[in-house]
Amino acid sequence: MQHESLQYPIVVYNIAENSFEAYLMRCPHQGAELQVFGERLQCPAHGSEFDVHGKVMNPPADQNLRRFNLEIIEEKIIIHLQ
Ligand code: FES
Repeated sequence: MQHESLQYPIVVYNIAENSFEAYLMRCPHQGAELQVFGERLQCPAHGSEFDVHGKVMNPPADQNLRRFNLEIIEEKIIIHLQ
């Protein structure tokens, strides 16, 4: 998912029924765009990995991903970009 105000895509994970989480696909290490690899996000630059909760699993990144608040209204996911 992309938005013109963001430089990076957003990944939305369906964690459980009616439970979603949205993260910016920007590596907190040096800003490379992450790639979806199964249930992980991987950084092609230096190999950091993040789980479906945006938590860093492998260094060199040492911060979790930016998470967006979201809500579900009439079966639509509304992501709050701020
Ligand atoms: S920019 Fe992602 S690990 Fe370095």
